[in-house]
Amino acid sequence: MRGTADSVSVVGVVGAGVIGASWSALFLAAGKAVDIYDPAPDAEAKTRAYVAQAWPSLEALDLVRPGASPDRLRFVPDAAAAVARAGFVQESVPERLPLKLETYRAIEPALPADTLVATSSSGLLLRDLQEGWQDPGRLILGHPFNPPHLIPLVELLGNERTEAGALDWAAAFYEACGKVTIRVRKEVPAHVANRLQAALWREAVHLVAEGVASVEDVDKAITAGPGLRWAVMGPHMLFSLGSGGLGIDGFCQRYRDSFHGWWQTMGTPLLTEQVAQSLAAGIAEEEAGRSFEALAAERDRKLIATQKALRDAGSL
Ligand SMILES: NC(=O)c1ccc[n+]([C@@H]2O[C@H](COP(=O)([O-])OP(=O)(O)OC[C@H]3O[C@@H](n4cnc5c(N)ncnc54)[C@H](O)[C@@H]3O)[C@@H](O)[C@H]2O)c1
Repeated sequence: MRGTADSVSVVGVVGAGVIGASWSALFLAAGKAVDIYDPAPDAEAKTRAYVAQAWPSLEALDLVRPGASPDRLRFVPDAAAAVARAGFVQESVPERLPLKLETYRAIEPALPADTLVATSSSGLLLRDLQEGWQDPGRLILGHPFNPPHLIPLVELLGNERTEAGALDWAAAFYEACGKVTIRVRKEVPAHVANRLQAALWREAVHLVAEGVASVEDVDKAITAGPGLRWAVMGPHMLFSLGSGGLGIDGFCQRYRDSFHGWWQTMGTPLLTEQVAQSLAAGIAEEEAGRSFEALAAERDRKLIATQKALRDAGSL
């Protein structure tokens, strides 16, 4: 019988790259011990440095529990050792099916009874990832938005082979670590959030490629406009409110013809060399001499401030 999500004291992390290191920081902040495996020779030093750098942000977001410590990160010599005492496992090895399957073959025999494994995979199909498992019901999708320690969203997906109750349990576990979860009810490429992001970026690229606005102004059109609203409420609810009390169905009736017309003019650009170069030229202008590090720090500072404000306002 699986314990409560709160009773997990050790999380197994397999793969300590961009995503695995960030997950580790989050789980450590949630007061868990993290047993982690990554074969890269510099993985331990890089992960410890990453966690140290992430810790102040986690503190600023009130995600560090009493007793939590970065020192509870333990590098182990193989994948099986990373899961052997884990109450939950987050797999974040590179996005290659054979490597994921090889990893599962290595860890399944060592998994404690009832421990679930979540894959961070952005694009592989769960049914393909379940191949070769003795008990495929223990593998679910727990897809984060990068970086997992700063962006709350986790997309959860199971299928007909998934153990009953596994997604509810995983949702409770992630939420106890400060995450916000959604359920993906049907498997589609790129899940939900990346599809939405891709849809918006497609039109953003189209507008630049057609010379409608500069890269900087397209970015500003989002951050100073709908992006601000989207941090507060989703597009459906906002349009429902935008109906002036008629509801989303009233909004659809009132603006049906407008949206149908606009949708017909939406672009389907490709990221050709020429398009990539014109985006790069626009980004160079928008950067205005600021370094990669300075911009990344600015992004993280603003993300933290926004989330704190939203939490104070009762969101998140
Ligand atoms: N980068 C993103 O924005 C993002 C966002 C959400 C989900 N994901 C998903 O997360 C997963 C990891 O992506 P990433 O961006 O962290 O990749 P990455 O290349 O940065 O990290 C992968 C890590 O796995 C390690 N590794 C290689 N073989 C291994 C093995 N056999 N056992 C354990 N570790 C091994 C590598 O040394 C590397 O450190 C992928 O499935 C990806 O789709 C990525």
